[in-house]
Amino acid sequence: MDRTNDSMGGRTAAKAAGRGFSGSAAAGPADASGRDAARDMARDNARATDGTVTLRQRIEVSFEFPVVFTRGVFRPGNPALARVLAEGGAGPHRTLAVIDQGLVRARPSIVRDLETFAEDNADLLRLAEPPIVAGGGERVKADEALVDLVLQSVLRGGLCRQSFILAVGGGALLDAVGLAAALAHRGVRLVRLPSTVLGQNDAGVGVKNGVNRFGRKNYEGTFAPPFAVVSDLDFLDLLPERERRAGLSEAVKVALIRDAAFFARLEELRAPLAALDPSALEESVIRCADLHLTHIRTAGDPFEFGSARPLDFGHWSAHALEELTGGELRHGEAVALGLALDSLYCVLAGMLDAASAERILTLLDGLGFALWHPALATLDVERSIESFREHLGGRLQLSLITGIGRRVEVERVDAGLMRRAAGMLAERLRAATDPAAGTTGARL
Ligand SMILES: NC(=O)c1ccc[n+]([C@@H]2O[C@H](COP(=O)([O-])OP(=O)(O)OC[C@H]3O[C@@H](n4cnc5c(N)ncnc54)[C@H](O)[C@@H]3O)[C@@H](O)[C@H]2O)c1
Ligand SMILES: [Zn+2]
Repeated sequence: MDRTNDSMGGRTAAKAAGRGFSGSAAAGPADASGRDAARDMARDNARATDGTVTLRQRIEVSFEFPVVFTRGVFRPGNPALARVLAEGGAGPHRTLAVIDQGLVRARPSIVRDLETFAEDNADLLRLAEPPIVAGGGERVKADEALVDLVLQSVLRGGLCRQSFILAVGGGALLDAVGLAAALAHRGVRLVRLPSTVLGQNDAGVGVKNGVNRFGRKNYEGTFAPPFAVVSDLDFLDLLPERERRAGLSEAVKVALIRDAAFFARLEELRAPLAALDPSALEESVIRCADLHLTHIRTAGDPFEFGSARPLDFGHWSAHALEELTGGELRHGEAVALGLALDSLYCVLAGMLDAASAERILTLLDGLGFALWHPALATLDVERSIESFREHLGGRLQLSLITGIGRRVEVERVDAGLMRRAAGMLAERLRAATDPAAGTTGARL
């Protein structure tokens, strides 16, 4: 189903001083595809019989960025971040750091640790301003306050496109700072240091940013790959249990659309993952990030020009449930529910065998996710799917699965069947909590 992308991201970028992307206009034919491009353009540039003149431009840009996992990123002697920054050419580069308040609360020394790192690596970076500590979580995306603060600080600190913005925090803070970094001077190099499970295995490794505007999630945003991602796995130990667990659903999701072997591995790791064992968490986070990167690189649509968005399997209802619960359900928790719901739908629609769906529900259950929420009973299926389609644009293309690791795009959803799938989740919960109902009712 995947096809190799040859327009974006499929080529190795030249490692120039301005590492992060390399670009070339198609005008200089250096190889066979260059010659094709020149021929196409000569044809298109000709005057048409109707008198119009079309000059056709083609620009190819490839992006390359490292995603590094480490522990103790600011610890003296840890080379991970310094190595990444050194790829930015001769320093010191003016740098602005923004740190998630949640992380600072959990480890107050982090601000000083970052400042010490900057002092120890004065040949690479110079903090243009004291680090900004900003409230994390969805609130940071509710308005443009942080985006504006970063834009002003870039100006005040004299940062340019060769400078660095270090964003340390959860997915929400990375999204807001990433937007500011993409806007300032049309793009200042962004180094993401994700500090949550979801940030490290999903949100932090992608090519998008954004804040919520006019009541719409991620309405204002851009596609802008980072300069680098450096994930400190020690940050995960500081997260509340609930946050750590929530991010695991994205690993289940990416396994379901891409990799049956990873799904089987998650089943093996079910007990240690449920107990949030650090080494099981590390393995699943790194594998999940790797699958995300592979998907974005190879699925042919890194900047989502088309309407399909396979990485959003299970997300149409997740987004609606997050809204319905006013954010009470964490994104990852809503995704777990969305995966369970869409898997049952696939069975009812005759696309997926019941045994596979049972495996999926058992894994999600076993990881500690609640597969029912009262908001599911009030979910407006038609409206939620329409709002999902609108954000993607074009015709509806919903990613579903025909097996574990096998995704398919559908253009129609039977809302009645979807409601039945939600009813099955309710029934499953009843059977599990009411001993009189026995356990068979909980099965498919
Ligand atoms: N850009 C993308 O491609 C993409 C993809 C998926 C999700 N997202 C976005 O990511 C956001 C969710 O991110 P998230 O799940 O990382 O949660 P989050 O950013 O909302 O953070 C959750 C909470 O944890 C705190 N926190 C962060 N790191 C901590 C740490 N190490 N220790 C203690 N507390 C810490 C934060 O302050 C916040 O209160 C959503 O806004 C979602 O839209 C973006
Ligand atoms: Zn998600």
